[in-house]
Amino acid sequence: MISFKTVIFDLGGVVFSSPIGRLAELETKYHMKTKTLNRHIMHCKAWKRMETGVTNPIQFVQEYDLEIQTGIKNKSIHPILQKVSGQLVMDTISNGTGIPRKQYIETINSLKSLNITTVALTNNFKTKEKNAAKGMFSQADVMKDMFDIMIESYVVGLRKPDPKIYELVCQKANVLPSQCIFLDDIGANLKPAKAMGIKTIRVMVDDVNGMQALHELETILGGKTLFTTGRQQQQQQQRFNNTFTTKSTTKSISISKSKSISPSITSITAPSSTTRRLQTISRHLTTASNHKYHYLLSKIKSIKQTHPNNRAMKYFNEQYFATLDSSAQDIFIQIIKTGIDNPDSGLGCYAMTPSDYDTFSPFFDRVIRDYHNATASSVHVTDWNASDVGDNGVLDVTKLGLKELSMRVRVGRNLIGFNLPGSMNQKERIRFEISMLKAFDSLIADPNYGGHVYSLSPDHGPGITNPNLISKKKYNQLVQKHVMFKDMDADPYLKSAGIASDWPYGRGCWQSDDQECIIWFGEEDQLRIMCMKTGTRLDEVFNRLKKMLETVESIEGIEFARSNQYGYITSCPSNLGTGMRASVHIKVPKLTSDGQTDPHGNSPTCKAICKPLGLSVRGTGGEHTPIGKDGTIDLSPSSRLFIKEKEIISSLYRGIEGLMKEENK
Ligand code: ADP
Ligand code: ARG
Repeated sequence: MISFKTVIFDLGGVVFSSPIGRLAELETKYHMKTKTLNRHIMHCKAWKRMETGVTNPIQFVQEYDLEIQTGIKNKSIHPILQKVSGQLVMDTISNGTGIPRKQYIETINSLKSLNITTVALTNNFKTKEKNAAKGMFSQADVMKDMFDIMIESYVVGLRKPDPKIYELVCQKANVLPSQCIFLDDIGANLKPAKAMGIKTIRVMVDDVNGMQALHELETILGGKTLFTTGRQQQQQQQRFNNTFTTKSTTKSISISKSKSISPSITSITAPSSTTRRLQTISRHLTTASNHKYHYLLSKIKSIKQTHPNNRAMKYFNEQYFATLDSSAQDIFIQIIKTGIDNPDSGLGCYAMTPSDYDTFSPFFDRVIRDYHNATASSVHVTDWNASDVGDNGVLDVTKLGLKELSMRVRVGRNLIGFNLPGSMNQKERIRFEISMLKAFDSLIADPNYGGHVYSLSPDHGPGITNPNLISKKKYNQLVQKHVMFKDMDADPYLKSAGIASDWPYGRGCWQSDDQECIIWFGEEDQLRIMCMKTGTRLDEVFNRLKKMLETVESIEGIEFARSNQYGYITSCPSNLGTGMRASVHIKVPKLTSDGQTDPHGNSPTCKAICKPLGLSVRGTGGEHTPIGKDGTIDLSPSSRLFIKEKEIISSLYRGIEGLMKEENK
């Protein structure tokens, strides 16, 4: 089942009653065919210019009249349209903004409590200017506090049905089109959205208070009740209708012919719009999936051309994709969404559950083998016994002429029984945190560790306080000391993968009393387990982490997800295998002199020297951060998979040696 994350509402005709009725009155008054005026306005240049913010209502009135005159002259416009002036159009449309429908307000609130993002998407125009038409106010202003996101056509310079405006919605809400539902009263606005993969619901003019559309929304969201107002009356009406339609057709015909009957009861004798709508929902659900990825597939094609280093796009195969059933396609798209949203990705994908590496192995295996330079015979072996590396297991940097360095070794780990962070929801994130508290308690009780839990979760559910909640100030201090991770929401790769979602729920860390042992929870992997200290012996940090992992693994309920082929499972294929990154902060001012002028604070020279040594260079704040002003870099071996743990720590040592030779040349 698709997990919908966003509901998009048009305002006029959906959240507010429809203005179409008011134009219809003018059409009747001036003996025009139904919708003549309505269609003309929606398609004329003057209206478009106003709705995209080029002109204001005063300018619209002038441009509209001019367009009518020119159109009549060159016979492109029917003369009857000149009966209604631009001013009359403006007055009619702005005469009464309408009252927001209570059912919609309730629905928007219910969606919020379900953690669904609500978006208002309205074609509108400037009304705040001093030259705006008198007495006008904007529906968007009335509703601005109701919605998470408000997109007004005149503000963004785009209007429905331009597909770009739907792209903008997805970008702002950080979702895929297939994760959105869109309600609008104009079919033409829904069409391109549907073609992009957005689930669409048309709010019909004869749908009383738009309730039928809301029922459709409820059905799509799995039958949740989203509103109560008017529901009972509607059900009574429905029961009443059913009694007559099912018992006897003749009776219903006679009722429908009766003059005294109200219009809504008359409608029951024809196949009711309700029944028709309900019948079409299931058809609608299946056919939508055939179209829904057209847009993304074409985007992937173009990224393949423009960014050949984006592995997820490189190995995306449309034929393979077509073999997947619809729900597998949804998951697969979620996996590669980060690569679509961030064409500059090197990987461009994150697994959503540990089993994804098997389920989508024709894709993942190619990405993994390419990224990790695997040969046909590569097999992953775990080996933490570093007693035979360096000098009888000792890796002392003073032997390389260096003083104390800040050293850190971490592994990424995930537990079986939980989704990977990209597909966790807020509840599961909290559940994971709570389940880890038991493990932290046993570490705290162990004299080798002790320590504290620092949590960012605002609460542990409605009304449940989080005993470990820390202040923003404390969090910032911990980030400064490299104890806590940075704001994940600011990382575009993690964000579009859903890994940063619900931030900061389920996020935090445990740190031992001596501050050397740390376990992050809720970052890119469910757990990042690490040892960090300033010293000279790499083997000390490595062996302490080894011990600590043994302790953690012995705690009841902790079972790390593993694969026979790829070792320990991580969200990102780059971390598979050992999940290990061993790093030092080391000063290389000569090799990094270009870093002082680099716009991103990188040092391309240093990176180029490190690459053939199998080393990666990061900034002093971690990945995607600038190197230190004094030439300090974060240096770590690049390999994680098809390499033993003990080989990683010894290659860091040899890497430091090689790099210092270059620095001192
Ligand atoms: P990860 O290492 O988990 O992949 P990052 O590269 O973002 O993630 O680093 C996480 C944090 O660890 C950052 O604050 C970074 O500065 C810090 N860090 C990494 N290596 C060291 C080190 N050797 N000494 C001190 N802090 C370090
Ligand atoms: N998703 C990013 C990319 O594909 C980063 C990958 C490596 N980093 C990581 N933290 N997993 O380029």
